[in-house]
Amino acid sequence: MVLDRKIAIVTGASKGLGRAIASALVHKGCTVYGLARNGQVLSQVQNELGELFKPISLDMTDCKAVQSWVVETFSEDYGPDILINNAGLGFFKSVDKTSLEEWHDAMNTNLNALYYITSAITPLMKARSTSCHIINIGSILGHIGRSEATAYCASKFGVRGFSEALYIELRPYNIKVTCLNPGSIETDFFESSGIFPHDNMLHPEDLANTVVHVLETPDNMLINELIIRPLNPKPPTK
Ligand SMILES: NC(=O)c1ccc[n+]([C@@H]2O[C@H](COP(=O)([O-])OP(=O)(O)OC[C@H]3O[C@@H](n4cnc5c(N)ncnc54)[C@H](OP(=O)(O)O)[C@@H]3O)[C@@H](O)[C@H]2O)c1
Repeated sequence: MVLDRKIAIVTGASKGLGRAIASALVHKGCTVYGLARNGQVLSQVQNELGELFKPISLDMTDCKAVQSWVVETFSEDYGPDILINNAGLGFFKSVDKTSLEEWHDAMNTNLNALYYITSAITPLMKARSTSCHIINIGSILGHIGRSEATAYCASKFGVRGFSEALYIELRPYNIKVTCLNPGSIETDFFESSGIFPHDNMLHPEDLANTVVHVLETPDNMLINELIIRPLNPKPPTK
């Protein structure tokens, strides 16, 4: 896909990996609809990236709001070429310390929200004459288990299953689906669990460049899944 002038949606675009992906796509000439709950931070991102970045304040777990936004924004003549399902949350707690609310939050944000927006976007993508691409941000914890991560692992194993079924379903429509599974990334993601970003984690900008590479592959070439790890994940010794 040639990225210049393409229309992209990036969920969780206010910070971390989503912000880096939005920035990389804007620099490639895409119009990027950046979705997140915090509209103020999204406006700051627009100040930085310019008018190609469209800030959209939306809670991805609100199915009705997400689907209404899709209907109000797009049509068969103006549809997205790219959907990056990136918004997510994580915490580490033993199963008995995980509240019902936390369990549902993880499932709703990391997994159910992918269904809410993807099911609304795919009819528009099917109507397009050029190829489209959906990238789901999973995790290395969608491949392997970790102690005190039942909710996160269950949701990210789900993202992998969703992606695998979706790529088979959508390939006849010229729509690519990729599941990108990173190890630890240098963002504030796990701060609530006492895990702080350090230099030996993956850098969001490097992963954003990988996303660009995956999007720019020739039309008949599909990278359907990727696992990306830091070579040495341990914090640097001072
Ligand atoms: N960091 C890691 O080590 C790591 C490793 C593997 C995979 N991942 C995955 O990578 C993705 C991005 O993580 P990150 O590290 O960039 O996290 P981050 O810095 O915490 O950013 C998360 C983003 O998601 C948005 N978000 C969260 N809940 C939302 C909701 N209900 N509705 C709309 N937006 C929501 C946040 O914005 P608002 O708060 O404004 O809504 C923010 O923009 C996630 O799917 C995560 O599971 C992260």
